[in-house]
Amino acid sequence: MFDKNAVLITGASTGIGAVYAERFARRGHDLVLVARNIEKLEENAARLREETGVSVDLLPADLTDESQLAVVEARLRNDASILILVNNAGGNVGGTFLTQSAEDLTDLVRLNATSVLRLSHAVAPRFAERGEGAIINVSSVLALAPEWGSPVYSATKAFVLTLSQALQTDLGPKGVYVQAVLPAATRTDIWKFVDETRLPPMMEAADLVDAALAGFDRREEVTIPPLHDEARFMAFESARISVVQGIGNTTPAERYRTSA
Ligand SMILES: NC(=O)c1ccc[n+]([C@@H]2O[C@H](COP(=O)([O-])OP(=O)(O)OC[C@H]3O[C@@H](n4cnc5c(N)ncnc54)[C@H](OP(=O)(O)O)[C@@H]3O)[C@@H](O)[C@H]2O)c1
Repeated sequence: MFDKNAVLITGASTGIGAVYAERFARRGHDLVLVARNIEKLEENAARLREETGVSVDLLPADLTDESQLAVVEARLRNDASILILVNNAGGNVGGTFLTQSAEDLTDLVRLNATSVLRLSHAVAPRFAERGEGAIINVSSVLALAPEWGSPVYSATKAFVLTLSQALQTDLGPKGVYVQAVLPAATRTDIWKFVDETRLPPMMEAADLVDAALAGFDRREEVTIPPLHDEARFMAFESARISVVQGIGNTTPAERYRTSA
């Protein structure tokens, strides 16, 4: 499946996205690479063309900009060769909720959440009609950890996780595979503004992507490379499902009844 088809990867200039580009090129896939930094994209593309012989097309775009996002959406709608979308571009904003500006946080939501929604929405009808296609969404373990001190970033990543699981339910029966990938701290430029002495232990980006692709090959819906004990996520999922089972009661729970 997907053997001879092209992969569009967002955030392919550095870090996890650049490794995805390299790994998919080595698997023989043609590439369409999206990011803002055209020099880095060109550098990556030249190396991958030379080393792997695949065709690499560049689509420079700032995904927080409506008109540039529209160009990427159009490519996904119209380019029948693309059968895999990797929604990887993402970032964070320094500071705390009290010091971060509303404008920066709105841009963060545009990049980490809205662009994932819009690009998935652009490509899904073509994939569903064809009965095949894959969407890989890079979320984060912070989707599961709202108390870890990065409120809006965590919320965007929870959006990506929930969207991925819901789309897998919706589009899976139509032949479309949706994977959410949840990295923990991974050595990339996303940490460049954090003081060396405050950096957590990191996974290498190459190890993260190789593990994520092992999950992709197994058609896992949620892949968490740093989680060694898989049973913990399975227990979490079954607890979550048990909360919502039979929740459609028409009367409030006893504990909310007032005596008045
Ligand atoms: N590294 C970690 O510890 C970690 C942990 C969990 C999840 N993640 C997630 O992994 C994904 C990749 O991040 P990374 O760690 O590889 O960081 P990174 O090296 O900083 O890469 C981020 C990528 O996103 C692109 N990007 C940033 N803003 C953009 C914009 N406005 N429009 C288009 N592209 C934009 C960047 O390219 P340009 O600057 O050229 O635009 C770059 O290619 C992100 O979604 C991140 O949230 C990372």
